[in-house]
Amino acid sequence: MFSVVAKRLAEANCASGARIVVEKPFGRDLASARALNQTLHEYFPEESIFRIDHYLGKEAVQNILYFRFANAFLEPILNRQYVENVQITMAESFGVKGRGKFYDETGVIRDVIQNHLLQVISYLAMEAPSSTIPEAIRDEQAKVLRTVRPLCVENLVRGQFKGYRDEPGVAGDSFMATYAALRLYVDSWRWEGVPFIVRAGKALETTCTEVMVEFKNPPQVVFKEPAPKMGNHLRFRLSPDVCIAIGARQKVAGEKMTGEPVELTFATEPAQGTDGRMEAYERLLGDAMMGDATLFARQDVVEAAWAIVDPVIHGPSPMYDYEPGTWGPKEAERLVADVGGWNPIR
Ligand code: BG6
Repeated sequence: MFSVVAKRLAEANCASGARIVVEKPFGRDLASARALNQTLHEYFPEESIFRIDHYLGKEAVQNILYFRFANAFLEPILNRQYVENVQITMAESFGVKGRGKFYDETGVIRDVIQNHLLQVISYLAMEAPSSTIPEAIRDEQAKVLRTVRPLCVENLVRGQFKGYRDEPGVAGDSFMATYAALRLYVDSWRWEGVPFIVRAGKALETTCTEVMVEFKNPPQVVFKEPAPKMGNHLRFRLSPDVCIAIGARQKVAGEKMTGEPVELTFATEPAQGTDGRMEAYERLLGDAMMGDATLFARQDVVEAAWAIVDPVIHGPSPMYDYEPGTWGPKEAERLVADVGGWNPIR
């Protein structure tokens, strides 16, 4: 559809000096994303193409970038020496909300992982950009996504909620995933060996998007208490509420030298769009009209993201049913078995 619209706009003399905003997913895989790009470039130069991903218009997502590079205390520890694992959850308690036909051609990986969640990973894992000019940030996003190892079937668990096939617009024998959990590796100097474990799904127990960076435990040689199950952590809650929190341990009052986990929450905000601030789409469409591409996906970033998931979106892989209102198929547990399981979502 996008190529037809671009072509017709050009035929109607509407392409010259204009900007075009293209909604995600940009293509269906790496090859089709490249083909779509080529077609768009026949009518629009790169600087006029705005590939929208509303996640980049979210304050909470931009705050990952800001918080990382506006504070000194994080930089020394945000790397493979100190981080044990990163978990990213995008859970939605609702189903396909009447978008069965779209969803059944898309599935969870194309709908939210290839774009929203890989954009989040790029902000979390990138090196410091030289400034906030659009190309500086997008260069670093592309660089880090190119270091993410292409996904293999062993590091993927797919699921479909029971009842999905009865949704209007969904094929009765659909094999499209409404849940996916994946274990990614960022093969960079900073992150080598640290698993980035991502899960996203529809009809899950709750609605929330959260990034949790878990740090390694300190040496357990001073206090006579069992090693904490959960290490110190940095938590970015992206939606529906927003916060940044740091998890630590403190001594429980009393004679014993034993502790408890506590969390310091130092940024909370109401959901975007509820207090007079712009919704993500409003913000982004405004930026596109002003010609500011910083928060839009550049083609090389889109391609790098497709290259990560491309090996698994065509090939066969097992699909597990799950009950609506749960945390998805129990088979996904194997992806987090060596890091103490999924982090609890509050
Ligand atoms: C969209 C997906 O891009 O993002 C939807 O197509 C998903 O399936 C939505 O529900 C989530 O975005 P938000 O901003 O509501 O968390």
